[in-house]
Amino acid sequence: MGLRFVAAAGAALVLVSTAGAAFALDAAAVVKARHDFFHGIGRPAKAIKEELGKSEPAVADIQKYAAAIDAAAPQLPAQFPTGSGPESGVKTGAKADIWAKPAEFKKAADNFATAAHALNVTTQKGDVAAIKQAFGALGGTCKSCHDGFREEEHH
Ligand code: HEC
Repeated sequence: MGLRFVAAAGAALVLVSTAGAAFALDAAAVVKARHDFFHGIGRPAKAIKEELGKSEPAVADIQKYAAAIDAAAPQLPAQFPTGSGPESGVKTGAKADIWAKPAEFKKAADNFATAAHALNVTTQKGDVAAIKQAFGALGGTCKSCHDGFREEEHH
């Protein structure tokens, strides 16, 4: 019994140290990749906005940008591994609440992915008024996540 307990405790120790190694992630690299990810969706979003501001928006271009955002959207949660928040000491606009309120953050990410997909589908139909509406809805999901989970000073 005593031996088994020691063995179990030893196994637990190994597990703990393995987890410790897994969390010793390179936070600077994660944050850099995360910024690249957001620029990867920010650029096409800005391009759609510019296109929609023209008197004759190039719908074919908007379709490409919307498809890129839709494809990237499901990758958003993976940009926020545990240990890549402000406690890492790396300069980041990610608030600790991302990890403190995981259900809320997941909902914000899901709303964004749903809106990105809806925009992608809508652009395929080519109706500019409908595209404007779907793009507005997408922008609302960026804003609501930023309002709750991103530091103001990191714009
Ligand atoms: C579920 C939450 C969430 C959604 C949805 C979201 N963002 Fe963000 N975004 C963040 C967080 C958190 C950061 C801060 C990341 C950091 O600094 O590490 C950020 C940062 C950014 C940045 C700055 C990157 C940098 O280099 O500092 C841009 C640009 C950006 N987001 C654009 C967008 C756009 C455009 C959308 C919608 C099409 C969007 N985001 C949707 C959470 C979100």
